[in-house]
Amino acid sequence: MIRDLKEEDFERIYELGQEITPNFKKTNKLSEMIKDKYTKLIVYEEQKQVQGFLIYTELPDIVDIIDIIVAESFRRKNIASCLLDYMFTEIPTSVQLVTLEVREKNIPAINLYKKFGFEIINTRNKYYGEENAYLMGRRLEK
Ligand SMILES: CC(C)(COP(=O)(O)OP(=O)(O)OC[C@H]1O[C@@H](n2cnc3c(N)ncnc32)[C@H](O)[C@@H]1OP(=O)(O)O)[C@@H](O)C(=O)NCCC(=O)NCCS
Repeated sequence: MIRDLKEEDFERIYELGQEITPNFKKTNKLSEMIKDKYTKLIVYEEQKQVQGFLIYTELPDIVDIIDIIVAESFRRKNIASCLLDYMFTEIPTSVQLVTLEVREKNIPAINLYKKFGFEIINTRNKYYGEENAYLMGRRLEK
């Protein structure tokens, strides 16, 4: 089941986020993000627990994916795909471009985004400490 993130989910989101990025909690102030009208936070719940989430910002013409994380034991079960499908149905028709940054060695995520029609637009050198990132984007047809 996909639904909006609630305050009760904060702890679980931080738990999932910290597994991937050690400073996730510091850089993602969920209590502020949830109040921001441009930030959308959705979760995928299964077995009465949040097993994945997606955070993105939405302006009238551009959407930027901030983070998508699925619990390790629930990966390769289409959860990230469901979250992205949901996002694409929710974003307004005025949106022309969806962008994101991804570590250049993160093959699962790059494959996921390619499957959803994203292309590599540019490389951002040393975007994540010493590691480069790809800027990826998908143009939406009118
Ligand atoms: C990237 C991530 C979100 C994918 O979640 P998921 O629920 O396992 O993805 P899905 O099951 O929907 O897979 C969709 C597609 O992604 C790609 N993919 C997912 N995991 C992959 C892997 N381990 N290796 C290669 N490709 C992979 C495949 O193209 C897959 O399609 P397929 O199953 O038809 O081959 C998950 O691996 C994750 O949470 N990783 C850690 C956090 C992270 O790196 N997030 C991205 C930040 S930019």
